[in-house]
Amino acid sequence: MGFSKWVNLLFIIFNCFLPIFSDSSSSTSNDNLPINKFLDLAKNPQVFDWMVDIRRKIHENPEMGYEEFETSELIRAKLDELGIPYKHPVAVTGVIGYIGTGLPPFVAIRADMDALLMEELVEWEHKSKVPGKMHACGHDAHVAMLLGAAKILKELEKDLPGTVVLVFQPAEEGGGGAKKIVDAGVLKNVSAIFGLHVNHDTSLGAVASRSGPLFAGSGFFEAIISGKGGHAAIPQHAIDPIVAASNVIVSLQHIVSREADPLDTQVVTVGNFQGGGAFNVIPDSVTIGGTFRAFSHESFMHLRNRIEQVITGQAAVHRCNATVNFLQEEKIFFPPTINDAGLHDYFRSVAGSLLGVDKVNDMQPVMGGEDFAFYQQALPGYIFLLGMRNPSAEPLHIVHSPYFKINEDALPYGAALHASLAARYLVEFRQEEVPVVEGKYHDEL
Ligand SMILES: *[C@@H]1O[C@H](CO)[C@@H](O)[C@H](O)[C@H]1NC(C)=O
Ligand SMILES: *[C@@H]1O[C@H](CO)[C@@H](O)[C@H](O)[C@H]1NC(C)=O
Ligand SMILES: [Zn+2]
Ligand SMILES: [Zn+2]
Repeated sequence: MGFSKWVNLLFIIFNCFLPIFSDSSSSTSNDNLPINKFLDLAKNPQVFDWMVDIRRKIHENPEMGYEEFETSELIRAKLDELGIPYKHPVAVTGVIGYIGTGLPPFVAIRADMDALLMEELVEWEHKSKVPGKMHACGHDAHVAMLLGAAKILKELEKDLPGTVVLVFQPAEEGGGGAKKIVDAGVLKNVSAIFGLHVNHDTSLGAVASRSGPLFAGSGFFEAIISGKGGHAAIPQHAIDPIVAASNVIVSLQHIVSREADPLDTQVVTVGNFQGGGAFNVIPDSVTIGGTFRAFSHESFMHLRNRIEQVITGQAAVHRCNATVNFLQEEKIFFPPTINDAGLHDYFRSVAGSLLGVDKVNDMQPVMGGEDFAFYQQALPGYIFLLGMRNPSAEPLHIVHSPYFKINEDALPYGAALHASLAARYLVEFRQEEVPVVEGKYHDEL
């Protein structure tokens, strides 16, 4: 949906609820919300230390997608501590919290909760206590920052002209937790959703994003190419799946280089090749696996279909059979992450006034995937990168590295941005919409 379309839609939704605001309709600004102080509030030890403690607890106990039981329990304990009501369970381990009037407008802010299957190689006091699992994508920090925002907003609840919806979602890393949250219907009346992701090479105190496609749509495939095994020295009695698979892989590379528009960025990568166990034996079969990425739904589906055709066709050239599996059960396709243009302007204005306009950077799209895309299919959404790089410290490692580290000094920036984006959205939304509809609908209701 375009920006103007959703404004119209919200306009309609809003009209239904107008009487709720009639008592406060005389004031169109909300001067009570100290939005320009949110960063100082978040840096206050009462919020900052609280977030750091939460983040370290979650870091020590990483849990995989849809298994974030203790993380979810910790989140609920903190929400209880703050007196914030919530829905649970949503999408297995998800938690949806509410701050404000309980009435429209609704604006959502989101954190993902899951960890990765990898061994932490950073030696520090709060290293992962679970062998083979690690918060290497910063989702521990995302949870802490969303709770930090909740703490700030809860203090100012009586001044919020609407409702902030806190979305703690499971399973971002391939599990499509965002899709399950959307399917659960909890975002039905929500007008906009904001998310962030920590970034190792954006400066601390800075943010980066763009309007339109930011992250690619991504999918995975696995193919079994079957021939007939035999002695390596007597190939005429075998059907060699190694040579067939090799040609399959080369042909897959021609989809992007020869069929795609060079200005429509796409990727096909084969990252897995399993076949044979001996130097002198032709195996029965080879299994290959890979990923494909694109920034539009059309290009993405074109890649999907051509990958299947190329694998089966090229296998047939070599007298082999092939089956292609897109693994939709375990690794659902992520749509491209496309930032709403109207929210981009809104974000630049909010982040600019919080951080300074020179700290709000435009960035190039990235081929990585983000399941935030599922929210954006359902409602206007905006996601941005939050800087962690401290130029005077050693460089940080990229996400999904076993050496990945969070610069905890970034936590207040994330919390303040979440809180400002949500609070100002409610205020501006009310200011824009209420005066227009007031005369028109007041009498009828
Ligand atoms: C959305 O709003 C409608 C009324 O307009 C209400 O009946 C429904 O319960 C709301 N849904 C959610 C998920 O808040
Ligand atoms: C391919 O499948 C066909 C039909 O099932 C079968 O007859 C043939 O033997 C298979 N070829 C190989 C190399 O597995
Ligand atoms: Zn990740
Ligand atoms: Zn992540």
